[in-house]
Amino acid sequence: MIEVCVVGELNLDLILYGLPKDLLLDREHLASGLAFTLGSSSAIFAHNLCVLGTRVGFISKIGNDPLGKMAAERLSAVGVDISRVKTASGKSATGLTVVLPQTQHRYILTYPGTMFEMQYSDIDMDYVRTARHLHLSSFYLHRALRPRILNLFRQAKEAGLTTSLDTNDDPENLWDRDLLEVLKYVDVFFPNDREAKKIARTEDLAQALNILGGLAKVVVVKRGSGSAICRSGSEQWSLAPPAVKVVDDVGAGDTFDAGFIHSFLRGATLENCLAFANIAAAYSVTKQGGTEAFRERSQLASYMRQQWNLAARGTLPLES
Ligand SMILES: Nc1ncnc2c1ncn2[C@@H]1O[C@H](COP(=O)(O)OP(=O)(O)O)[C@@H](O)[C@H]1O
Ligand SMILES: [Mg+2]
Repeated sequence: MIEVCVVGELNLDLILYGLPKDLLLDREHLASGLAFTLGSSSAIFAHNLCVLGTRVGFISKIGNDPLGKMAAERLSAVGVDISRVKTASGKSATGLTVVLPQTQHRYILTYPGTMFEMQYSDIDMDYVRTARHLHLSSFYLHRALRPRILNLFRQAKEAGLTTSLDTNDDPENLWDRDLLEVLKYVDVFFPNDREAKKIARTEDLAQALNILGGLAKVVVVKRGSGSAICRSGSEQWSLAPPAVKVVDDVGAGDTFDAGFIHSFLRGATLENCLAFANIAAAYSVTKQGGTEAFRERSQLASYMRQQWNLAARGTLPLES
């Protein structure tokens, strides 16, 4: 039996390190490092949540190609149930993201492929209902599914699941209002600082938290190495992640979401969910890509235990 059902996109990330900030046409630019690793917000979330000890099932659509197979195998290797990952019958290819990390920020270039094609009819709703919790990432990348995401969340709530959502960026920079209706069926909403302001249509984070906090039950705003903020009703917590040596911050937000939901489902207080999420996410930036840090479970567990004890937070919600 799965605990969390993730609906989302599944692809690999190709990360090229050390490229110049200004890329010139017709010049050959040399990268100093390369990683080819499991990518996509939903898949990084699912992978890392499963490694933390939550039983995860994944619903997605990939192309009939080696990249899709590799991505699915990466998920399956850590125990994610990929029985509901469909392979597109036509010529559509699995998506791919090329990431070019810079000192503070990163270029993100995505070929969406099958992630634009997954439809509501691709989702096995009976399977979703077997879970305790539904998570969806990359709201704006699910072009075919998007008009029915409201329906998906409403049905999950009717079936008694808790829900969470991470929109990530809107590549079209439109931030349409259809999301606001969905947020009424979201228990934990995970924007980063910029996304929170864009969605709430304000430059002021406090105001964004007020607006979003009036829609979703809990709003958690991620702010890189700054303090993450958790808002629930009139209560609010703000907590900085541990300081770490950064390799890249690919997937940090998704790993944060995974840490939060893992502890949330184990009944931790919201403040402890925030602490646990920060520790998991900080550790993820110490290795390449979004999932490399989570491929060695014992190292991860010892880091998390050490940080948790430093913060004197009682029982670590790591073991299930
Ligand atoms: N440089 C960093 N040092 C420590 N923790 C970090 C760092 N960057 C990110 N994190 C952790 O990852 C979380 C998500 O990062 P952020 O970049 O804000 O999200 P997103 O990937 O969604 O843009 C942060 O809230 C924090 O817990
Ligand atoms: Mg994000």
